[in-house]
Amino acid sequence: MSRYDYQIPVTFEHRIVFTRNAFSAENQELSKILAEGGGRRVMVFIEEMVAAFWPNLTDEILAYFSGLDLDFRGIQILPGGEIVKSDDSIVKQVWEAIDSAHLDRHSYAIVIGGGAFLDAVGYATATAHRGVRLVRFPTTTLSQNDSGVGVKCAINSFGKKNWIGAFSVPFAVINDFRYLHTQDEETRRGGLIEAVKVALVRDADFFKWIKNHLESLAALDPETLEACVEKSALLHAQHIATSGDPFETGSSRPLDFGHWAAHKLEAMAAYQLSHAPAVAVGLALDVLYSARIGLLKFSVVDQVFRVLDGLKLSIYHPGLDWLDDHGKRRVLGGIDEFREHLGGELTILLLEDIGKGINVHQLDETLLGECINELKTRWEASV
Ligand SMILES: NC(=O)c1ccc[n+]([C@@H]2O[C@H](COP(=O)([O-])OP(=O)(O)OC[C@H]3O[C@@H](n4cnc5c(N)ncnc54)[C@H](O)[C@@H]3O)[C@@H](O)[C@H]2O)c1
Ligand SMILES: [Zn+2]
Repeated sequence: MSRYDYQIPVTFEHRIVFTRNAFSAENQELSKILAEGGGRRVMVFIEEMVAAFWPNLTDEILAYFSGLDLDFRGIQILPGGEIVKSDDSIVKQVWEAIDSAHLDRHSYAIVIGGGAFLDAVGYATATAHRGVRLVRFPTTTLSQNDSGVGVKCAINSFGKKNWIGAFSVPFAVINDFRYLHTQDEETRRGGLIEAVKVALVRDADFFKWIKNHLESLAALDPETLEACVEKSALLHAQHIATSGDPFETGSSRPLDFGHWAAHKLEAMAAYQLSHAPAVAVGLALDVLYSARIGLLKFSVVDQVFRVLDGLKLSIYHPGLDWLDDHGKRRVLGGIDEFREHLGGELTILLLEDIGKGINVHQLDETLLGECINELKTRWEASV
C-alpha cells in the first residue's frame, strides 16, 4: 500500500534555443515560441550595459514586434550587475512596470542581460501574479553557459548570496550568440569556469575537449567560445532535467561544486569579487581537498589548475585568509551557511575522478586550512 492516495507527476517544458540575431526579421525562433504560448502582451527589459553596447537594439526590437500580431507594451532599460541583487529596488521597479503595463500570467516578459540582471528581474517576474512568463536572453558567457538555462532566480540578503529567491522554470531561454562577444575579455573568459565545473562533475570528455581547446578558449576565438558555451548549457540543462531533483529538494547539488566557498567569498568581499573568479577559487579548493583526503589523483589537480591558469583564473584570493574575532578563517563559515541554505544534512560534492563526483557530509577544517595554505603558496609562485 502506498503512503499516498495519489502521486501525480508534474512536468515542465524547458524551451532552450541557440541562435544568432534573434530580432532580425528573418529569425523566427522567438516569434514561434511566443505564438506557441498563445499569450499576447509583451514587455521587454534590457540591461543598461547591453543597451549601451547594442545602441540599435531597441529599434530592432520595435521593428521586430511591429511585424507580429502581439500587444507590445514597451521596453524598460534598467541597471544590471551584481549590485542590483543587493536589495529589492529593481524587483519593485519591475513589479511596477508589470502592473502598469497590465501584464498577466499569459503575458511575456523578455529579459535581456547578464546573470545578475536575469536573477533579479527573473525573481520579479516569478513573483508578479505568481509568475509572468519569462523569456530569458542571457548576454554573458556565464549566463549563457549556466544560469540562463537554470530554473531559479534570486537576490542577495542578510549578507548572503541568493537568500531571497524562487524556483521557476522560464518560459523559454534564447541564447543569442551575438551578445557573447562584447563583454570585456577577462569576464568573457572567466565565465567559462562554470563550463569547467560542469565538465568536472559530469563529463570527462568535455573536460578533455576544454583542455585540447584551451589556447583558443583563452584567445576567445568566437567559434570555440560558442561551442563551449553551448555544450556547457546543455550539460547544465540535462542535469536539471534528468537528475530527478530539478528544484533541489534533496541535499545533493552537484552543479554547486566549489560554490560553498565561492558564495561566502563573494559576500565577504561585499560582492566586489564577482561570481566567476570566486567559483574558480572555490573549485580549486575543493579539487585540492578531494586529492588531500585521498579521493582524487594529484595529477588531476594539476590538470585542473593548468586549465584555470589557461583561462587566467586565480586559484587563490586573500579572502580565504581573512579571520574572524576568534582567529578562525571566515570563509569556513560558508560551510554552515551552505548547509542552512539547502536544508537537511551538510552535503558537499567532491571529486573522485574527472566527471565523477561523490557526496560527503563533513569537511575537515584543519585540512581545508592546509589546502588554503597550499593554494596561496602555488599562487604566489605563479605571480
Ligand atoms: N540562477 C542561477 O541558476 C545562477 C547560476 C549561476 C550563477 N548565477 C548568478 O549569475 C550572476 C553572475 O552572472 P554574470 O557572470 O553574467 O555576471 P553579471 O550579470 O554581473 O554580468 C557581468 C558584467 O557584464 C555586463 N554585461 C552583461 N552583458 C554584457 C554584454 N553582452 N556585453 C558587455 N557587458 C555585458 C554586466 O553589466 C556586468 O557588468 C551571479 O549573481 C550568480 O550568482 C545564477
Ligand atoms: Zn555558479
